[in-house]
Amino acid sequence: MKIGTKIVHEGQEPEKTTGAVIPPIYQTTTFAQKDPGVPIAEFEYTRAGNPNFSRLEQTLAAAENGRFATVFSSGLGAMTAWLATVGQGAIVANEDLYGGTYRLLINVFERYGIKCTFVASDDVASWKGAITSETKWVLVETPTNPLLKVVDLKAVCKLAHAKKAKVIVDNTFASPVLQNPLDLGADVVLHSSTKYLGGHSDVVGGVLITNDEGLKKDFDFYRKAMGLNPSPFDCWLVSRGIKTLALRMAQHQKNAKAVAAFLKKSVSVKNVYYPGFGGMVSVRFKDDKAAKKFIKGLKLFCLAESLGGVESLVCQPSSMTHASIPKAEREKIGIDDALVRLSVGIEDEVDLLADIAAALR
Ligand SMILES: Cc1ncc(COP(=O)(O)O)c(C=O)c1O
Repeated sequence: MKIGTKIVHEGQEPEKTTGAVIPPIYQTTTFAQKDPGVPIAEFEYTRAGNPNFSRLEQTLAAAENGRFATVFSSGLGAMTAWLATVGQGAIVANEDLYGGTYRLLINVFERYGIKCTFVASDDVASWKGAITSETKWVLVETPTNPLLKVVDLKAVCKLAHAKKAKVIVDNTFASPVLQNPLDLGADVVLHSSTKYLGGHSDVVGGVLITNDEGLKKDFDFYRKAMGLNPSPFDCWLVSRGIKTLALRMAQHQKNAKAVAAFLKKSVSVKNVYYPGFGGMVSVRFKDDKAAKKFIKGLKLFCLAESLGGVESLVCQPSSMTHASIPKAEREKIGIDDALVRLSVGIEDEVDLLADIAAALR
């Protein structure tokens, strides 16, 4: 089955007892038991599990061609559960990661014995030099946030597995419509479902997907033990939003390609970052003043954090999404005040280009 069909049907079956085509929101904290310790179905308490979690997990696992998924309260909630599974040890990751991921690795988990080495995303030799027999896990974000660099996943997975390290891929920017890391050798896929999966900027959520039953058990355990669960309603919203993911990605991509091509022709723009697929475009202006003027001049692109919703958004990563990375570190990898990130929505291309043209003027 193709992904456009799977996201409409897998985990999306009518509810068995009433036939409701759209399942209810199981807004309950707890589930009645037949005997002490014997639940009626598989559910006991919503921190540990809920029918809305299970349905969404079935959809998301299918979308990524995986066997198992565990949903969380946010993308960083999913990252936290994965890091709890890692325990202590050495991790290799790419240097231009989402700022919140960097903060979680350095400002939280380093204290508990995680040691992270950062490498240049698009340089396989740099990954090769950093991945050693000491490496426990490799964390890859691709395309990267906000510079949209692409990591050669097949090559990095091969390097990691040769050293007996596992690979987790943050696939938030590509979405499962454009990239399936498990098929390229990854052990785990992570999404912030806040973004393209939900697609409507109305829900915060995260997920880990894997083919490894042992890892699935660990992820479920840490969700329950650490209280990283989502709410039933939030899962219901993602289950609803994801049905149009393939349609939305096609329109995001068509618009983003047009926006990138248009910006490339502008004399006020120094650099355009677009990997050739997906809905994200970053632009470097000649200085921070020009960048700010452009941001302020946009009318359809709303100045806000996040991405992947139907509406176009603009942000300045240095002061917003990546502000938690120390300035010197940030600037070393090219995230300065002249850089602007666009999440290109699904509006009509003509209107988006007109808005950009006006802001450039
Ligand atoms: C690539 C990437 N991964 C993870 C996250 C974290 O997700 P959440 O905000 O749902 O915790 C984000 C958030 O912007 C992101 O852009």
